[in-house]
Amino acid sequence: MNEVTEGGVSTPRPAPGGPGLRARGLSFRYGGVWVLRGADLDVPTGCRTAILGANGSGKTTLLRCLSGSLTPAEGSLTLGDVPVRYHRAGLREHRRRVQLVVQDPDDQLFSADVRRDVSFGPLNQGLSDTQARERVEEALGLLAIAELGDVPVHRLSYGQRKRVAIAGVVAMRPRLLLLDEPTSALDPAGVLEMLTALERLEERSTTVVIATHDVDLALRWADQVAVVVDGCVVAGDPGVVLGDRDLIARARLRLPWVLDVADRLGLLTGSGGGPPRDVESLVRRLSRPVDVPAGPAR
Ligand SMILES: Nc1ncnc2c1ncn2[C@@H]1O[C@H](COP(=O)(O)OP(=O)(O)OP(=O)(O)O)[C@@H](O)[C@H]1O
Ligand SMILES: [Mg+2]
Repeated sequence: MNEVTEGGVSTPRPAPGGPGLRARGLSFRYGGVWVLRGADLDVPTGCRTAILGANGSGKTTLLRCLSGSLTPAEGSLTLGDVPVRYHRAGLREHRRRVQLVVQDPDDQLFSADVRRDVSFGPLNQGLSDTQARERVEEALGLLAIAELGDVPVHRLSYGQRKRVAIAGVVAMRPRLLLLDEPTSALDPAGVLEMLTALERLEERSTTVVIATHDVDLALRWADQVAVVVDGCVVAGDPGVVLGDRDLIARARLRLPWVLDVADRLGLLTGSGGGPPRDVESLVRRLSRPVDVPAGPAR
């Protein structure tokens, strides 16, 4: 099972499984311009999924289709084997279980202070003031921002605003959380804190999907990566998909540095154990004794 190990974060998780979210043949266009053309994606329950792709490839559009905030022109979406119905009640039901956190927190935060902002979702779901307060404290704790509860939103740093935006969605207790670039513009410690917060959510049985440009993060964090290219999705094992030089070039990405180094050192072929996913596994691979072919006897 995958663990985040760089920076000392390491929590074993249960094996992913069970029918989660399934998209089949999703097509979507803005006006006359098709962005998705038959995209398939499976996100089993508990499966960390990282969506990658060039600027403008359609990552956000895909996330919005998965969340039900955009209706695809073609294709189907099922959650736990139940088809999503594109009418008011069906979408309300879907959005109760699947929540999207948009890339820019300023598109999501609009209340005067943090507690009021985070309570908006639970109150909107019809919970009482007391229940909503409990949800707010729980969400602030999970995101490790309890001390920010009374701070006016406009005084928060960008990284703090990102966490508050996630807390606002977490307070609605979704089963599946879609995060659009949750680590972008965060400093290295902020990225680790974000990943630690996501682990706490996973311990509460939340399945996490992120869109990111960070191929190194995707390799070491995800159970599967999904590359959006030419309107379709190529999904699979992170070490295999992100090591596919042709696909990576087509998708305007780059190889994760661990895979690039391993490839240049000839460690990706025939060495067994699968491609390295992080610094530790690369170092372990490098410290293995090398099989030197026997030379001619003297
Ligand atoms: N509301 C909109 N109206 C018209 N076109 C849009 C709209 N939103 C996105 N697009 C177009 O759809 C395409 C895909 O955009 P999308 O935001 O999904 O890409 P992305 O992969 O998330 O990009 P980025 O990495 O920059 O966030 C782009 O060409 C974009 O210009
Ligand atoms: Mg985007």
